[in-house]
Amino acid sequence: MSDEIIPNHVAIIMDGNGRWAKQRKLPRTAGHREGVKSTQEVIKASGEAGVKYLTLFAFSSENWNRPKTEVSALMDLFMRSLENEVQNLAENGVRLKFLGETSAFSKKLFKQIQKSEEITSKNEKLFLNIAVNYGGKWDILEAIKKLINAVQNGELSLVDINDEALESKLATQDMPAPDLFIRTGGEQRISNFLLWQLAYTELYFSEVLWPDFSPKELKKAFDSYSSRQRRFGRTQEQVTE
Ligand code: IPE
Ligand code: IPE
Ligand code: MG
Repeated sequence: MSDEIIPNHVAIIMDGNGRWAKQRKLPRTAGHREGVKSTQEVIKASGEAGVKYLTLFAFSSENWNRPKTEVSALMDLFMRSLENEVQNLAENGVRLKFLGETSAFSKKLFKQIQKSEEITSKNEKLFLNIAVNYGGKWDILEAIKKLINAVQNGELSLVDINDEALESKLATQDMPAPDLFIRTGGEQRISNFLLWQLAYTELYFSEVLWPDFSPKELKKAFDSYSSRQRRFGRTQEQVTE
């Protein structure tokens, strides 16, 4: 499509790994492993399409409630994926940033996360955010605490608390809000992902399970996005004139 509009910031809930495995009578962890491949393909395809910011939900604050064996398999998978991929990402102009309470992870994983951010910190082609131990409510609460702290220290006065001030304290500080939200796996909910940031984002839900989500499926989401009219509260006439 020649008039395709590429979203500047894409946020994805990568869901459906467990069901993909179950359909094949495999353990859920096999689905997570397969999901890593989709993640790699989607990162590459997004960069090539001209997406500037890509935010991927990899582990929610609520995912700690899963069976211990699944949680630890996921942690191992994060660790290995990071070790294997960081060099490749660094060479391809990707800047990695982790959104969430990463200090809750093991020391080893926390260090690897910090190292990955450091190694890629000068890159500017694609800003890749991985949300891990992330919750939208947590993000907003942390921002509020920082604002209160600034008020108590006399650095900020109450009248200066506005959208911009709060956004400057969120995990996504200095980034534009997502233009397109994608959730794979058929569920139609936000599951405590970016709550504040999604206020005016276009939503796209795909039935495809994450391990089957290919660059072709990503293109379908972009096609859908291209056909939307974003009005931000205004009328259709105001937007088209
Ligand atoms: C998403 O897939 C991956 C994580 C939440 C870590 P799921 O594991 O939620 O897959 P389903 O929803 O059970 O199929
Ligand atoms: C959301 O998926 C979190 C991630 C994809 C990391 P879940 O599978 O955990 O969401 P719910 O529990 O079905 O809402
Ligand atoms: Mg799920």
